[in-house]
Amino acid sequence: MKMNQLSSNKCNCLNGIITVPGDKSISHRSLIMGALAIGESIVTGLLEGEDVLGTAEALKALGADIYKDCSGSWHIHGVGIGGLKQPEGPLDMGNSGTGVRLMMGVVATHPISVIFTGDDSLTSRPMKRVTIPLSKFGAEFSGNQEGTLPITVKGARNPLPIRYELPVASAQVKSAVMLAGLNTPGVTTVIEKIPTRDHSERIFNYFGVPVSLNNEEINVTGHAELTAQKMAVPADPSSASFIIVAAIITEGSDVTIKNVGMNPARTGLFDTLIDMGGNITFENKRQECGEDVADIRVKYSKLKGIIVPENRAPSMIDEYPILCVAAASAEGETVMRGLEELRVKESDRISVMVKGLKDCGVNVIEHDDGMTVSKSDVEGGAIIKTHLDHRIAMSFLVLGMISEKPITADDGSVIETSFPGFTNIMNNLGASVS
Ligand code: S3P
Repeated sequence: MKMNQLSSNKCNCLNGIITVPGDKSISHRSLIMGALAIGESIVTGLLEGEDVLGTAEALKALGADIYKDCSGSWHIHGVGIGGLKQPEGPLDMGNSGTGVRLMMGVVATHPISVIFTGDDSLTSRPMKRVTIPLSKFGAEFSGNQEGTLPITVKGARNPLPIRYELPVASAQVKSAVMLAGLNTPGVTTVIEKIPTRDHSERIFNYFGVPVSLNNEEINVTGHAELTAQKMAVPADPSSASFIIVAAIITEGSDVTIKNVGMNPARTGLFDTLIDMGGNITFENKRQECGEDVADIRVKYSKLKGIIVPENRAPSMIDEYPILCVAAASAEGETVMRGLEELRVKESDRISVMVKGLKDCGVNVIEHDDGMTVSKSDVEGGAIIKTHLDHRIAMSFLVLGMISEKPITADDGSVIETSFPGFTNIMNNLGASVS
């Protein structure tokens, strides 16, 4: 077994009450908002995955003071909107599309020049989707023809507000434009025809920047003062999804995950699993720091395949790899379409999932915009190429829990980007991942 390989063996049932690390989207945004506020913000429950720690390092290089105290809370001393300083070197955003796109938005309206780069996965992902709207503020971008990283951003000295209709349903692009609008006089408007996760809208309001919503328009008034806040980050519903599917497909399981984010723009997988016959219940529903939260109880269930509604895609865009795993144990066919965006995630998640599923003996058909997975006797025994994609690694390790022979992820270290502790949490519940 190579150093970074992780293998998952068939297991009996998963049982227990647990929590999972903090929400990745909210963690990035809490650090950014804290860094742009005046005074000290304190964040608890921050995801300490590589992606978010990369954003913290970038913000420190831009002048914010960020540290963790001995009780595990993160303190951020912000520089105020407009207060970012020129960093000394390039900002390496590692594997994180959210980190780099949001940070480009922040920098685009500060009069500084910043080089952004990343790992082999991130440097092959499309960035024109943010550089095009951010140029309209007056920022300048230089890099290669393809518009991929590394890219140098020369932020606008005198930014102008923009009105921009999103050509792709992307919360990252929406948020980049909203963040650029913070240091721009006047009103910046994003027009969003297909709703995507609204963590930025919620956290802007929470930090005292009024965001007005008008049908499909999101309006941000620039130069508002951000008030430092205390923020509690809920557990990540996308990380919880791996546990939920693992419990649903392994006979006899009964697992409760505490304090999970239930933002309606993130819960598409839960709706889909319930439509498929999944036994999932939500307890102790509440609101915390502007976000919906609940405890989720999930039990082993006999699933049936469905046609997943295409308009649900934005609310479960990160969950299709793990839905494929649930679909392999669902009676009949599960059809997943309208997913072109999956091809430009950390990997091309359509082709990587299809190849890996076939290698494990799962019946799957690839479409340009998705896949159809049928109930299968999962043979396993494959070594999956994870292509620097955490969700590919975790999905196949969950599939290994019901396969005849073990399934191996060629590089388990990528899981650290979003779900530190994945292996321990799974094994404590009864899985056999090593
Ligand atoms: C995210 C938005 C989504 C998602 C990513 C996190 C965010 O990307 O896939 O993991 O925090 O805004 P897109 O906005 O590109 O769909």
